[in-house]
Amino acid sequence: MKGIILAGGLGSRLKPLTKITNKHLLPIYDKPMIYYPIETLCRAGIKDIMIVTGGNSAGDFLRLLGNGRQFGLKDIAYTYQEGEGGIADALRLCENFADGERTVVVLGDNIVEDDISPYVEEFARQKSGARILLKEVDDPERFGCPELDGDRIVRIEEKPLAPKSRYAVTGIYMYDLRVFGLCHALKPSARGELEITDINNAYIQEGDLHYDVLRGWWTDAGQFESLFRANQLVAASRGLVNV
Ligand code: DAU
Repeated sequence: MKGIILAGGLGSRLKPLTKITNKHLLPIYDKPMIYYPIETLCRAGIKDIMIVTGGNSAGDFLRLLGNGRQFGLKDIAYTYQEGEGGIADALRLCENFADGERTVVVLGDNIVEDDISPYVEEFARQKSGARILLKEVDDPERFGCPELDGDRIVRIEEKPLAPKSRYAVTGIYMYDLRVFGLCHALKPSARGELEITDINNAYIQEGDLHYDVLRGWWTDAGQFESLFRANQLVAASRGLVNV
């Protein structure tokens, strides 16, 4: 199983913080944001990792992370996404790296309290398909949001005006090797991006999208409020402040 961290994009929603640096290098409490998805993968025993960077300051990732020795890694693979073509556009750059293996994909601005090992183990037991992680949130309209029928996901809507559930699809995705074929077949959405939600909906069509619900806290850090919240949650998890 290989790990992929998507840290491309321009971080436009965080300007001017991202005017001269990359969003994923901004601090979350006492560490740069990119440390958290790396730690999420390492904790789950995934040590073969590619980081997709893009936009400003891509070279700074190398200066900051090097070969990942501080995470116990032998090395880190890097690639560069031109422009901001979407999450699935960044993912398809990792096809050679995946080399036919299954992948665990983490968005570079997603921070999660849970150790994801049990979910990854569950995915390893799946014969095929994809597995996603959901979390109940107050503002599902900000995310990919699943429509459920019993305990089955029938569809995922990207940032729906009228959400069909209280869940967000978090930015932690597990895929079999079919994902790259699906990425290549995608057409850009109305906002001009290749959407990860379209990939997940394609797995739903094939009856092969499975999920778990995260127990601990989860947040993205792509907007001022969520960036602030991420700092608070991490500080609170160290017993430093109450939230
Ligand atoms: O955080 C979870 C949400 O992430 C999901 O619920 C949504 O379904 C999913 O579309 C995504 O929504 P966002 O609007 O928050 O995605 P954003 O454009 O902020 O990108 C999130 C991360 O993905 C970003 O930190 C880096 C990576 N990314 C994004 C784009 C657009 C790339 O690597 N390349 C890109 O072109």
